[in-house]
Amino acid sequence: MIRVRVPATSANMGPGFDSLGIALKLYNDFEFRELEYGLKFNGMPKEFCNEENIIYLAMKYCFDKAGYKIKGLEISEIRQDVPVSRGLGSSSTCIVGGLVGANEILGKKFSENELLEMAVEIEGHPDNVAPALLGGMVVAIVDENKTFYDRIDVKKGIKFISIIPNFRLSTEKARRVLPKEISLKDGVYNVSRAALMVACFSSGRYELIKHACKDAFHQNYRKELIPGFEEVYNKSYELGALGCYLSGAGPTIMAIINEKDERFSNELKKFLLIKGLEWDILELSIDDAGATIIEGED
Ligand code: HSE
Repeated sequence: MIRVRVPATSANMGPGFDSLGIALKLYNDFEFRELEYGLKFNGMPKEFCNEENIIYLAMKYCFDKAGYKIKGLEISEIRQDVPVSRGLGSSSTCIVGGLVGANEILGKKFSENELLEMAVEIEGHPDNVAPALLGGMVVAIVDENKTFYDRIDVKKGIKFISIIPNFRLSTEKARRVLPKEISLKDGVYNVSRAALMVACFSSGRYELIKHACKDAFHQNYRKELIPGFEEVYNKSYELGALGCYLSGAGPTIMAIINEKDERFSNELKKFLLIKGLEWDILELSIDDAGATIIEGED
C-alpha cells in the first residue's frame, strides 16, 4: 500500500496570477493499492466514486504515459483537512496525490519534473500544482508547452492566516467572471508587483508586501462573488496584516502577518462574529516538503 501526503496551496499570491503559489502546512492524505480487478474508493462522497474521480483520472494519465495497464485499483482519502473549493488547492492535492501514487506503483518511472508537466497538463495552470508537488513558494510558468519553475528561498518571520468562507466557489465559475483581455496599465500594475512580491519574500523586507500584493487581474472581478470580501480585506489591514489577497480563485482571503503576532486571529474572529460571518480562520506556516510518501508499499 502507498500513502501520499499533499499540502494545501495558496495560488496567485496577489499579483502573480497563474504563476505564484505557496504550499502550506495543511494536508490531504491518500492511500493507493493495486488490486487484481475493479476500482474501489474509500473515504469520499458517493458522487466521486467513479471513473470521473479526479484522483483516478490523474493516476490513469500517469499510467497511460507509461503505457501501463493497471488491473484494479483502490483509492482512499484517509485525511481531508484541505477544504473543498475554497481557494486552497484541494483539487491540486488530488491531482498531485494521484500522480505521485501512480508513479510509486510504476516504481518511480517519472522524475519530479515529468510529474509536474503532467500535473500542469491536467490542471491547466501551474500555480497550485507546482507548490503542492515541490513545497515552498514557487514561481512557475508555461513556455512553449513546457513548465519551468524556481523555488523562492522565503525568509523567516511570517505566517499565513487563511480566512475561509462557509461557502464554495468553483474555479470554473471564478474564471468565467474574468475579462478576456487586460489593459497595458493593468499589465504593468501586476507585472511590477509580482516581481516585487518575489523580491520581498527573498529579502525578508516584508514591509513591502502591502504594496506588492495588490492585483488588477482578478480580485476586483471575483470579489463580487464573495459577500464580505471588502470588509474582511480592509479589517485585515486595520489589524496589522503585512499583506492580504484572494487565495487562488477564492473565496478564501489570505492575510500574511508577522509570525509573532498572537493578536490578529482573535481580533479577526471577534470581527467575523459581529458581522455574522461564520467563517473559519486557520493559522498556517509554509510547508517546505511538498508531496511526500509517508508509507512504503507493503
Ligand atoms: N490561478 C488560478 C486562478 C488558481 O486564479 O484561477 C486557481 O486554480
